[in-house]
This record gives sequence, C-alpha cells and structure tokens, in this order.
Amino acid sequence: MNQLNIETSRLNVRNLRDDDLWDFYLYRSDPQVTKYQGFEIMSMQECEDFIASQTERTFGVAGEWVQYGIEDKNNTRLVGDCAIKLDLHDARISEIGITIAPVNQQRGYAKECLSAILTFLFDHAGILRVVETVDADNLASVKLLESIGFKKEGYFIENIFFKGRWGSEYQYAMLKREWDARSRSSSKN
Ligand SMILES: CC(C)(COP(=O)(O)OP(=O)(O)OC[C@H]1O[C@@H](n2cnc3c(N)ncnc32)[C@H](O)[C@@H]1OP(=O)(O)O)[C@@H](O)C(=O)NCCC(=O)NCCS
Repeated sequence: MNQLNIETSRLNVRNLRDDDLWDFYLYRSDPQVTKYQGFEIMSMQECEDFIASQTERTFGVAGEWVQYGIEDKNNTRLVGDCAIKLDLHDARISEIGITIAPVNQQRGYAKECLSAILTFLFDHAGILRVVETVDADNLASVKLLESIGFKKEGYFIENIFFKGRWGSEYQYAMLKREWDARSRSSSKN
C-alpha cells in the first residue's frame, strides 16, 4: 500500500511531516477549532507525538484513521489537515474529516481538498460510499458538505455527551453514483 499524494490547483494533500509541527500546533491548540470535534486542544508535545504517529501511515488499511497534511503549494506551509478511514468491515465505505486553520478559512480550501479526495476515493480507490458525521451546530461544516453535494441522511438528537453537553449530530453521505451524476451534469454545463 502507498502513501497518499493528491494535488489540486492550490494544495497538496500528503502525509504529515515533522516540520509541520508549528503550523499544526497553532490551530490544534485553538479551542475554536476543536469546539465541535471529537478531540481536545493539544499541547506542543501532543502535536509532536501525534505527527510522529502519522508520518509513515499508508492509505488503505481498513479501520485505521490516517491524518493528512493539507499544504499550500506556494509556500509548503500547512493550511490544515484531513483524515480518511476505510470501514473495518467493508473497505468500500470511507469516513472523512477535515480541519482548516482559522487564518485560512473561507478561502475555498476545504471544498477544494474534499472534492479532490472524493475524486480519488470514488475514481481510483474503489470506494462506493463516503460519510461524515458533524455536530448539528457546526454551521461551517454543514455548509461545506452541502456545497459539495453531500446528502443529509440522518439527524441524531442529543445522542452524544460531548464537552459538557448533550450534542446532536447530522450524518452526511455521498454515494459514488451520486458523485458520478454530479460530475456528468457539471461537465454538460
Ligand atoms: C468546516 C471547515 C473545515 C470549513 O473550511 P473552509 O476552508 O473555511 O471552507 P470553504 O472555504 O471551502 O467553504 C466551503 C463552503 O462552506 C461555506 N462556509 C465555510 N465556512 C462557513 C461559515 N463559517 N459560515 C457559513 N458558511 C461557511 C462557504 O461559504 C462555502 O460555500 P460555497 O461553496 O457555497 O460558497 C472549517 O470551518 C473548520 O476547519 N472548522 C473547524 C474544524 C471543524 O469543525 N471541522 C469539521 C469537523 S467534522
């Protein structure tokens, strides 16, 4: 199995590297960034250990999350990171997640990155279904997924005790056939 490398017009998606530490720490230590996510803010040491745990990971190990760096091609600095997991029981199903540093948000980076990841997963990795679960209050994430064309499939009300409160979640998904239909209709326009 290989390490993932995906290039878009502005970004490279690739394994995290030791020299990402400072950029990674800057946003992973920010409570605004972790507010709706399943992890807490991280210390410099935790960031260093986490990056070290990811640098050698390869794409395609069922059941294992791999966190990738999202790099600005212009200056090789990290703009954020994203994660992909193939389902342990059926590796044709994938789960994804994404974080963009606040200083880089609302510039279209997440949409550019996730669109390229979906192209890779559906067109080159045999994936048939991609899911993401988001906190129902996470407007930026909801807008991102809907702008890419993910379908809201589920609403789980107060189903998770999370950072001191009961949180509700949406499950979003994209099927390969839906992605193909979107690609066909956008190529006609
Ligand atoms: C969710 C997140 C990844 C979006 O990243 P981003 O790079 O700012 O998103 P983009 O610039 O690509 O925007 C994509 C779409 O979402 C919309 N959007 C993004 N942030 C928004 C916000 N705060 N409010 C309203 N809409 C927003 C954009 O307008 C755009 O819509 P359009 O394509 O219809 O114009 C980013 O806000 C983030 O990292 N948040 C913290 C971490 C997090 O919660 N991640 C999700 C965990 S499941």
